[in-house]
Amino acid sequence: MRSLVFAIFMTAFLVTLFLPACRHELVLPLTNDPVDTIQPPPPVDTADYSGVPCSPDTVYFQNQVLPLLISQCAKSGCHDAQSHKEGIVTTNYQNVMNVGVKPFKPANSKLYTVLNLTNPEDRMPPSPDSPLSADQKNLIKKWIEQGALNNNCNEGYGNCSTANVTYTNFVNALMANRCTGCHSGANPSGGLKLTNYDETKASALSGKLYGSVAHLAGYKAMPQGGAALTSCYVDKIKAWVDSGAPQ
Ligand code: HEC
Repeated sequence: MRSLVFAIFMTAFLVTLFLPACRHELVLPLTNDPVDTIQPPPPVDTADYSGVPCSPDTVYFQNQVLPLLISQCAKSGCHDAQSHKEGIVTTNYQNVMNVGVKPFKPANSKLYTVLNLTNPEDRMPPSPDSPLSADQKNLIKKWIEQGALNNNCNEGYGNCSTANVTYTNFVNALMANRCTGCHSGANPSGGLKLTNYDETKASALSGKLYGSVAHLAGYKAMPQGGAALTSCYVDKIKAWVDSGAPQ
């Protein structure tokens, strides 16, 4: 009898001891989960790039590097917040720096060295995706050489020209750097490819290209997982579509 009372007493004691601890533990490990440390993408940004014009000699993280990484690496199943393969996420400055970025030293920075690995399974993005182009690799290299800053500039500073926008002089590079990481390959996002003139023109003439980048109601807001294009770039896309999407 006495041992039964003791057992009940001990059980009650242990339960009160561990209940709060359990509840506590349910909360704690999640804060170490990369998903939880991800900040939401910056609010839709149209023209608040602090008035700094873009210099052709500088690589800008927010304008150039991050959109490229979101398109090429932060795809579903890879390094977006939900998938976080190998604990790596490339959706903001802080988590990109965590991919072994050593300012001024691209050769010692994992973010850069993985782009050049010869084994297609180890290289990023891995096979069957294509490697980054030489220009895209150089962009990341130069950004690290310049100190890997969290910098940005105003793409439309002073004068956003919407005259004579063509696929060749503007749209192609924009798609390659911000969209084709997801919209290419055997299984493109949303079943939509944007890798060449014909594919992009079809999307333009259907109204979806502009609707998605201008975040119009009824369209999926693009680029997915990233900041909206600046108003200058949205205006240029509109001008291109309105003039019949010339090559
Ligand atoms: C990180 C991946 C990712 C990036 C980067 C991305 N997209 Fe998408 N896109 C998607 C997914 C996923 C869908 C399908 C969304 C759905 O159906 O819910 C989609 C759908 C679309 C659609 C169809 C929209 C509709 O309403 O039918 C268009 C057009 C589009 N994207 C254009 C773009 C353009 C232009 C860019 C670059 C500025 C871009 N996307 C960047 C993942 C991406």
